[in-house]
Amino acid sequence: LKISTKSGTRNKTAPLLHGLFFEDINNSGDGGLYGELIRNRAFQGSDPSDGTPQGAVPWGPTLKAWKSIGSAVLSLDILNPLSDSLRTVLKVDIPANATGEVGFLNEGFWGMDVKPQAYGASFYVKPNGALYKRNVTGVNLSIRSALTDDIWATTRVDISHNISVTKYTKLEAVLTPEAAAPNSNNTFAITFDAAEAQGQTFYFDLISLFPPTFKGRKNGLRKDLAEHLMDIRPKFLRFPGGNNLEGISIDTRWQWKKNIGPLTDRPGRPGNWGYFNSDGLGYLEFLEWCEDMEMEPLLTVYAGYSIDLSGNQPAHTVPDDELQFYIDEAIEQLEYAMGGPDTKWGSLRAQHGHPEPFSIKFVEIGNEDWFSDSYYWRYPRFLAALKAAYPNITYIASQATESSPANRNVTIPPGGMWDLHHYQTPQFFKDNFNLFDNWQEVAGYPDVQIFVGEYSVLGRDRVGGIDWANGEGRFKYPTTIAAIGEAIFALAMERNPRVVTLSSYAPLLQNFNRAQWTPNFIAFTADPSQTVLSTSYYMQKMFSHHKGTETLPVSNTHGGLNPVWWHASIDTGSATRIGDADVDSTRFVQGNIYVKLVNAAKQPAPITLNFDTAVTKGNGTILHHEDEFGFNYRNNATAITTKMFDIEQSAIGNRGATVKYEIPGLSVVVLELKQR
Ligand code: AHR
Repeated sequence: LKISTKSGTRNKTAPLLHGLFFEDINNSGDGGLYGELIRNRAFQGSDPSDGTPQGAVPWGPTLKAWKSIGSAVLSLDILNPLSDSLRTVLKVDIPANATGEVGFLNEGFWGMDVKPQAYGASFYVKPNGALYKRNVTGVNLSIRSALTDDIWATTRVDISHNISVTKYTKLEAVLTPEAAAPNSNNTFAITFDAAEAQGQTFYFDLISLFPPTFKGRKNGLRKDLAEHLMDIRPKFLRFPGGNNLEGISIDTRWQWKKNIGPLTDRPGRPGNWGYFNSDGLGYLEFLEWCEDMEMEPLLTVYAGYSIDLSGNQPAHTVPDDELQFYIDEAIEQLEYAMGGPDTKWGSLRAQHGHPEPFSIKFVEIGNEDWFSDSYYWRYPRFLAALKAAYPNITYIASQATESSPANRNVTIPPGGMWDLHHYQTPQFFKDNFNLFDNWQEVAGYPDVQIFVGEYSVLGRDRVGGIDWANGEGRFKYPTTIAAIGEAIFALAMERNPRVVTLSSYAPLLQNFNRAQWTPNFIAFTADPSQTVLSTSYYMQKMFSHHKGTETLPVSNTHGGLNPVWWHASIDTGSATRIGDADVDSTRFVQGNIYVKLVNAAKQPAPITLNFDTAVTKGNGTILHHEDEFGFNYRNNATAITTKMFDIEQSAIGNRGATVKYEIPGLSVVVLELKQR
């Protein structure tokens, strides 16, 4: 390969190319990245089986994850709502003959991690009005084992004076275990001493327990998972969906006005992926997540189309004469994020604790509207109105070419973007390595750019491609060959920075206990030590860390591509990117050359790199495994990870102008060389 470093031949790389796409799927939000440890904390919506297939939930309040302690009788109550949004509460009846400890516990999202750290507990409680005997002095809170009698932390909250008998009182406490529990099979309990509470009734709601969160945010993100995401150095976050934006009906769409402000005002919603969403991770929390990871927010706005993936009901399209309501909703949504304190929605954001306006540079109109037959009239109306209100935003179309005879082409205006989704086989990504070369000219969109908003290798190569109907060959977890296929496609993007400016793997997170979609980037349980970073994760991290600021042209002296694929770039900027502090300071210096190589074959491939400049010894990062279907799993979580190696001086010849390297079979490699 001949690599030119001449300045006239370079192009700027896309500064935001590698980002994240998040939606609540596979309990990635509730029971995942959202730090809340209490499952079904407000008895909002049913979750009847842990193996819920997508879309198959009969929604309704539930006692899921709650159990009684002692002789306490638990039931759901709708006569004593906590708020207009949280209408069902827990009724706890303590029998007159109760003895010992009585109360209830929550099992968490398949357990709770217990460490010697401060857990913030809060809940709302109300006694039974005039019937209350005012003789209960306190409630006991504890974090305890589900398997043994061990109690990891306990505290008592005084209710002798500070509790109203007719209204809900919010009580808060901190529990600090002295040591880590041996496993995550733990619960959170609220109990009374029966001697005090015999014959009494109490109502409870919004029972919450948070460990320390990422960057210490109140109502924030689970720290360890957020840190794994941050390690990639993502440049943007697309949220809140995906299908989970759209709702299974228009009324159950993701509604930003219902997921901001106090948690008591968030009714939650039936998510698109078969379980109820608490919406605790709401609009402002998403924006703060972007702020905390220094990512550009990429907001998908509801565009008048809802879809039930289970096919239980037909898709819903907002009628033409009602569309303006949803357009206005989107404009107000932008004002909530970007408006000053003098604006209606901006001042509400300030009231919610974030006076500084956010900046949103990217907005996607809808999601995967090729499923609909109406985008061709909805998109132009949204676009015109949003542009008039916020002309500096780049608007992304979720469909452009005709998707059905009824859903015609839409015209993306110059300066716009198009979101493409590719869940594919490795072969597809190889075959489409040239997809973006001259794409703008071929597609007739000279000034439109591509956002590859969702991509991953979904399954192995097979005749006919992905088997969506039966799932034959579909991967449960990202494999070696998946990372290789994705790396080839990422190279296709990196070498076309004029065309592809944003990209994100999907889906991002999966709780091991429940998946509506596989494979996923990171799989986890309640126990952080069980988290599995996938082959795809390591591949994305490698690419994001070694993007370079300018592309270097590579000409091919080795014959065609396949099985070896490549791209080269150079870093002309200084090390100002977030997270750089934790990296060896000799890396990311001005003039570093990155040569990315993918060998999709099982055999090693010797290669010579010819430079028009003298390079000196450097190092490399490799992701390799001999089994193309190998994957990381719980008891083998680091089977396939990146390893660093030195490029020895002996590999460098011709006074620094050539580097010889043998690319191991089935591997993704970044060689990092310095100019002399
Ligand atoms: O990532 C899972 C789903 O795939 C997304 O919700 C949707 O946009 C796509 O079909």
